[in-house]
Amino acid sequence: MGIVHLDGVEKEYELGENIVRALRGTDLEIESGEFVAIMGPSGSGKSTLMNMVGALDKPTSGTVTVDEQDIAELSRSELAVLRSKKVGFVFQTFNLIPTMTALENVALPMLFRGVPKSERHERAAQLLERVELGDRIDHRPKELSGGQRQRVSISRALANDPDIILADEPTGNLDTETGDRIMSLLTELNSDGKTIVMVTHDPHDAEYADRIINIQDGVIVDSDEEDMT
Ligand SMILES: Nc1ncnc2c1ncn2[C@@H]1O[C@H](COP(=O)(O)OP(=O)(O)OP(=O)(O)O)[C@@H](O)[C@H]1O
Ligand SMILES: [Mg+2]
Repeated sequence: MGIVHLDGVEKEYELGENIVRALRGTDLEIESGEFVAIMGPSGSGKSTLMNMVGALDKPTSGTVTVDEQDIAELSRSELAVLRSKKVGFVFQTFNLIPTMTALENVALPMLFRGVPKSERHERAAQLLERVELGDRIDHRPKELSGGQRQRVSISRALANDPDIILADEPTGNLDTETGDRIMSLLTELNSDGKTIVMVTHDPHDAEYADRIINIQDGVIVDSDEEDMT
């Protein structure tokens, strides 16, 4: 079984009288070490799918298995452990804490895991070095460029050394050149063995992936296996 496995997943959101069927019977297998791009129109269910893959939310019906654990069978605290240790999240809008420095933002996921302060700060500094922000560790998000903010958020996603990185439009707020730098970084992490699942609207970004999954109206319509020549 792959590192992520979805079997007949449906996700409905109830809004008053209305029910939105965001995912309508989705099957998906993602192998460990794959780099997958998810594409589809606005509202087609991409972020909902990512929430399933990262165990952020439970399906209305069907099964989601992450690292061979059926997420429906996990308690709230077991889910929290799975999320913080197995999965790192990168968002279009970076989602950094504005009052915290780059170092503190990157150290935060380790705080939740109870890592001592000196170790947290040492590892956070190393992760920021790695994305070439060693000279920006004391900057707050508003004192950083968009590309630098996204590199901080990638460092934060790596804080607990997860197997899976989920990136929802990681280059959506960046210019092409800065976006390419982020894509190279994701490719590098993939070469180091991380499984990457990325939502993108940009066909150029999708070319970095091994495989493209197309979703429309909550259904995966086709999944191209790209030859890697
Ligand atoms: N919390 C929610 N409550 C009610 N409806 C929701 C909720 N989240 C998403 N939806 C609806 O579910 C559908 C899928 O939303 P989703 O966010 O997964 O789309 P998306 O493909 O990520 O779109 P975009 O490209 O615009 O980010 C949409 O019709 C949306 O309005
Ligand atoms: Mg979305």
